[in-house]
Amino acid sequence: MTTNETPAQENDEKTITHRREIKSFVRREGRTTPAQERALNELLPVYGIDYCPDQQLNFTQLFGNDNPVWLEIGFGMGQSLASMAERMPEINFLGIEVHRPGVGSLLNAVQEKNLTNIRIMSHDAVDVLKNMIAENSLARLLLFFPDPWHKTRHHKRRIVQAEFMSLVASRLSVGGAFHAATDWEPYAQWMMEVLDTHPHYQNPAGTGNFAIKPDYRPETKFERRGQRLGHGVWDLIYVKQ
Ligand SMILES: C[S@@+](CC[C@H](N)C(=O)[O-])C[C@H]1O[C@@H](n2cnc3c(N)ncnc32)[C@H](O)[C@@H]1O
Repeated sequence: MTTNETPAQENDEKTITHRREIKSFVRREGRTTPAQERALNELLPVYGIDYCPDQQLNFTQLFGNDNPVWLEIGFGMGQSLASMAERMPEINFLGIEVHRPGVGSLLNAVQEKNLTNIRIMSHDAVDVLKNMIAENSLARLLLFFPDPWHKTRHHKRRIVQAEFMSLVASRLSVGGAFHAATDWEPYAQWMMEVLDTHPHYQNPAGTGNFAIKPDYRPETKFERRGQRLGHGVWDLIYVKQ
């Protein structure tokens, strides 16, 4: 606080600084359908986890077993996450998404498919990773078709940055992997540069090479949209050293 500022002015400054924190998403509230609204009211208390910054998750308690945990950031409408959870019952999935209609839609799929290996959070995944995920606890972190933030002045909003990748590395177990896919070639190159120059990751496909799409990754809604626009798809899989 400068000598001329009142405590109230100082608080205002803090609020403004806080509001300006760079986020990788904009909240598109969109309309929830009655089915999604019902799911948010009735199923989120069953499959959802509240954001509690001072409480780390205990995966063994949460899932009732010690299976490996894969975390997906930004699952969109959730069809691909539900399909992975259905096809891989030996994996526990934690999905994080801020888009409420998407959370409602995934909850409905979880109920329809009777899935027991999936938990859902509706919050900024960066906060969740920082405050609720233990170090060395994730087998895989999935980031499928993250918002590409095309304009140069928005590149700072891209979630893949060196600092974010250090956070991810600290939460992955040794040998765990980060798997991203995008239909925006400049973002694919951007991610590769961040990861190739990061000391905690190694590219099993060889430096400068993209990964072959693994069978476990279903086609996502955004991927289909990209295909309609004639875009290619790039997968990146990097292992924590
Ligand atoms: C382009 S969409 C892709 C959705 C889905 N993965 C697909 O391929 O269809 C990106 C999603 O990431 C979500 N998202 C972006 N940043 C996020 C964050 N920090 N925490 C949680 N969700 C985030 C957005 O709300 C959006 O739904």
